[in-house]
Amino acid sequence: MNIHHFKQMKQQGEKISCLTAYDASFARVLSENGVEVLLVGDTLGMVIQGQATTLPVRVEDMIYHAQAVRRGAPDAFIIVDLPFASDLSLELALTNAASILKQSGAQMVKLEGGERRLETIRQLTTNGIPVCGHLGLTPQSVHKLGGYKVQGRESDQAQTLLQEAKAIEQAGADLLVLECVPRGLGADISGALSIPTIGIGAGPECDGQVLVLQDMLGISPGPGAKFNKVFLQNNSIAEAISSFVQAVKNGTYPANEHCYN
Ligand code: KIV
Repeated sequence: MNIHHFKQMKQQGEKISCLTAYDASFARVLSENGVEVLLVGDTLGMVIQGQATTLPVRVEDMIYHAQAVRRGAPDAFIIVDLPFASDLSLELALTNAASILKQSGAQMVKLEGGERRLETIRQLTTNGIPVCGHLGLTPQSVHKLGGYKVQGRESDQAQTLLQEAKAIEQAGADLLVLECVPRGLGADISGALSIPTIGIGAGPECDGQVLVLQDMLGISPGPGAKFNKVFLQNNSIAEAISSFVQAVKNGTYPANEHCYN
């Protein structure tokens, strides 16, 4: 898998499956069961470290977990989050992204935000570092957003997100995560871009889907978000992963009950 395959998959209407991974054992199971992209997300702060938000996560944490994921899945396409405040300046973003790729063997970094991140995306990509953007609900800004809420319900906010998505593509990003936006907006943004969108609570029209591994296995505390589906029922972990991949591919996940309308 590489960035060209993802574009081809979008052109051919084949959905991309992505799950978060933070350790070698799960990375191996995910990869062996057809998951095309492993995301070492900064959600590791919450699901691995037990923090209340993703904000305390450090670049060293990302590298540590990404190295483990690479060892478990030597051939996987791995994206690693730039954690909170690791991309506050261009220099910081370049240095941290380069260290992550160098030390972990991952292929891409992901960073949250629109307009304010465009120059960073340009600099990273012109320096050979593939980037995945992240729009909609951006958890590193949870305090500014006032909670984990659906974004883009108002038409002016939806317009801004659509313009920012186009600008992120123009700046050189190769993928875009869309988190917690109404289904119609997920569809509009996916239709307007030539790079693939990977949705989480952004509807089935996105070009791929991502879930947090612990959420889709049903071992995260609390009721969970509307978009989540627990795939581990009476089956094995391997079967749960492969039924997620099948459901993304055949479009049965996300169903209407997992969408914000
Ligand atoms: O950190 C993460 O796991 C993410 C996903 C929720 C998309 O960014």
